[in-house]
Amino acid sequence: MTERNISKGEMADPGMALLRMASGAWVTQAIYVAAKLALPDHLKSCPASCDELARRVNADPQALYRLMRSLVALGILQEVGEDRFAVTPLGEALTSDAPHSVRPLVMMLGEENFRAWGALLHSVRTGEPAFNHIFGQGVYDYLAHHAEAATTFNRAMTSWTRQTSRAVVAAYDFSPFEVIVDVGGGRGTLLAAILGANPHLKGILFDRQHVIDEARAFFQTMGLARRCEFVSGDFFQSVPTGGDVYVLSQVIHNWDDERSKIILENCHRAMSENGVLMLLEMVVSGDKGTAFANLFDLNMMVMTGGRERTEGEFRALLDRSGFALKRIIPSGPLMSIVEAVRK
Ligand SMILES: C[S@@+](CC[C@H](N)C(=O)[O-])C[C@H]1O[C@@H](n2cnc3c(N)ncnc32)[C@H](O)[C@@H]1O
Repeated sequence: MTERNISKGEMADPGMALLRMASGAWVTQAIYVAAKLALPDHLKSCPASCDELARRVNADPQALYRLMRSLVALGILQEVGEDRFAVTPLGEALTSDAPHSVRPLVMMLGEENFRAWGALLHSVRTGEPAFNHIFGQGVYDYLAHHAEAATTFNRAMTSWTRQTSRAVVAAYDFSPFEVIVDVGGGRGTLLAAILGANPHLKGILFDRQHVIDEARAFFQTMGLARRCEFVSGDFFQSVPTGGDVYVLSQVIHNWDDERSKIILENCHRAMSENGVLMLLEMVVSGDKGTAFANLFDLNMMVMTGGRERTEGEFRALLDRSGFALKRIIPSGPLMSIVEAVRK
């Protein structure tokens, strides 16, 4: 793992320092329940007592008080008077309409993702995704049959990708292209941002049927539906032809190299000769990566059997799939555009 800085306090009491880390799952669930009950939403405009809040969110007042005391200790809520709770600036990021709201992501982390992480040991012993072990099927098949979980997942992806989209639009010149194909594009957050900023472009959004239905509705509300074609299918079989730029945002990290190669080869077959491939991914720096990148990599192992990759690993995978890595353009604090062309 990374050379994480060990503080003097941790050196003095390593057992306590480890216990704090090992009880991280408690923090995940405390924040998740706050998000699920929309506590920060309720407290945003007006502080409230615990009893008032318990009535509004249909919770047990004593139990809710104990949760809120922990949320105060974590800096998410604050007490602003005798039994009056308010949201802190940190907690505002958990409100639904905050500009960079992480509420959908926190909801995702507390539900199926949390249960899958509970079987990390299975993944480490077998190399298989813990998700499949717990839920009896792969995550994307599961989402196709569980509408509520799919909505939570698609909202989480929207919230994550919305922030990256701005950086991509600012960092990349789409003017040479005519048709952009977003493969595994989800609700189309990224594609909508690119079409919005490049009025000459047409888009093709490709994903599984249940996702495409949601995406179409989203594009209609954005006034972009007429510039976009919506295609459902399976990228392990084929992807739409006719694009000159193929974007795969956070798709390849879901799969091992063999599965990724199939998707990339299908893009290679579908794109025009001078076509460009853009992967939007976290590129792990150096050999070891940061703690966050390494834990994200474990998350992919647990959820889908995928992985986060270094520049060298992307180069090798692209090379085996008929592409040459051209350049890597950092786009936001965590993500990069990995640009490649046909060899
Ligand atoms: C991690 S999400 C990324 C979504 C979107 N590109 C973004 O960045 O927000 C992966 C996407 O791949 C889609 N996907 C998974 N398996 C697929 C398949 N076999 N064929 C087409 N799309 C698939 C999922 O439905 C999901 O929308």
